[in-house]
Amino acid sequence: MEINANEIASIVRSVLNGMENGGAAPAKDLPPVPATARVAMLTAPKHFEVKEFPIPEIGDDDILVKVEGAGICGTDVHEWRGDPFGYIPLVLGHEGTGEIVRLGKNVKTDTAGKPIKIGDKLVTSVISCGECNICRLHPGETELCDKQGVYGLIPDNEKNHLCGWFSTYMHITKGSTYFVVNDLTLDQRMLLELAAVTTHALEQGKKTGRLNFNSKVLVQGCGPVGLMMIATLRTMGIDRIIAVDGNENRLNFARKLGATDVVNFKELPELAQRVQAVKDMTDGVGADFAYQCTGNTHAASDVYKYIRRGGGLCEMGFFVNNGECTINPHFDLCNKEIMLVGSWDYSAAEYPIAMAFLRRAKGMGIPLEELITHRYPLDQMNEACEMNVSQQGIKICYMA
Ligand SMILES: NC(=O)c1ccc[n+]([C@@H]2O[C@H](COP(=O)([O-])OP(=O)(O)OC[C@H]3O[C@@H](n4cnc5c(N)ncnc54)[C@H](O)[C@@H]3O)[C@@H](O)[C@H]2O)c1
Ligand SMILES: [Zn+2]
Ligand SMILES: [Zn+2]
Repeated sequence: MEINANEIASIVRSVLNGMENGGAAPAKDLPPVPATARVAMLTAPKHFEVKEFPIPEIGDDDILVKVEGAGICGTDVHEWRGDPFGYIPLVLGHEGTGEIVRLGKNVKTDTAGKPIKIGDKLVTSVISCGECNICRLHPGETELCDKQGVYGLIPDNEKNHLCGWFSTYMHITKGSTYFVVNDLTLDQRMLLELAAVTTHALEQGKKTGRLNFNSKVLVQGCGPVGLMMIATLRTMGIDRIIAVDGNENRLNFARKLGATDVVNFKELPELAQRVQAVKDMTDGVGADFAYQCTGNTHAASDVYKYIRRGGGLCEMGFFVNNGECTINPHFDLCNKEIMLVGSWDYSAAEYPIAMAFLRRAKGMGIPLEELITHRYPLDQMNEACEMNVSQQGIKICYMA
């Protein structure tokens, strides 16, 4: 019988692990783990390199996950394009998921207190610092933590090379937040982070008091964020949703996910035409509420015009700084008494809410998994990011 170095390392590891567990888990029951993991490391702008690192022995508080896949986020592409965060070299990927193959003996539950075991499907979430003003004095709003961290946005370091999901194995260490999600499909798990963004935005919108069962809601921008927002609103009971975009393919997706009306800005290039179209769809008055999901500063100015007097707006389209925009404070805000709220990321505590949304959406037959239009292997992550930029697809994913 031939046996290669990887297999020997894996057998040794299994035996050691069995010993570490006091012999409770016989070595033969542990899934095999190779000696090395492959990662797609961003080493220069627009340049992923596949690198290989030894898989370390995990500590008593750590978890080793065999990666199944990860969504590519707009933030990943932003960093890939020009390293605005200054993190290069790094392993990107924060929308990932996989199966637990090793568990430190102190790890008994996930962040929600659910029992955890080898073989469980896992996702990671954000980690707040616990020390800043927000963490100390406003613990219900840790999405605003000054130093919020997340796997996949950590510069490469000697302590842990396997700290981003664009890899074959992830080494999760003490102090992380993670959730067992065995009842969600791989595709649902890869969409979970995006769902956390939109379920948080839904809650922010509700804070204005201007969102209810009778609301006609406009969603401006039908990229992954806007489309997930449409599905979130539909699942929550909003049944009149107007989607605005210039991409017919994306508007078709919007219809599938719950939009009842669409406005294509390429067909109606003048703002006044689009405002009239929206008024025609809303008994002549304008939308009761709007979600701004474009990242386009002109769109951020325009959105006020679509909203009726006494309406509400949630601005969620600028996770990155795309510049300034102008509004007319008299017409747009003051005279209309618009209730305006921003939405920023989400807290780890909102992950279970996002899971509940995905389950409910599936139960309602909303075909969210169709959002995943392209899947790429580790050695094609540059192509994957290019596809994202081209806007030919919707949600682009890495598949291990
Ligand atoms: N608030 C948050 O926590 C959060 C989280 C993630 C992303 N974001 C932000 O959400 C934005 C959207 O993300 P995405 O991944 O969906 O991006 P995307 O670029 O894929 O989608 C943006 C969409 O907006 C459309 N658009 C552009 N100008 C428009 C206009 N004038 N009117 C209507 N539609 C217009 C585009 O055609 C495109 O389909 C990003 O700019 C990102 O910064 C926010
Ligand atoms: Zn993301
Ligand atoms: Zn903090």
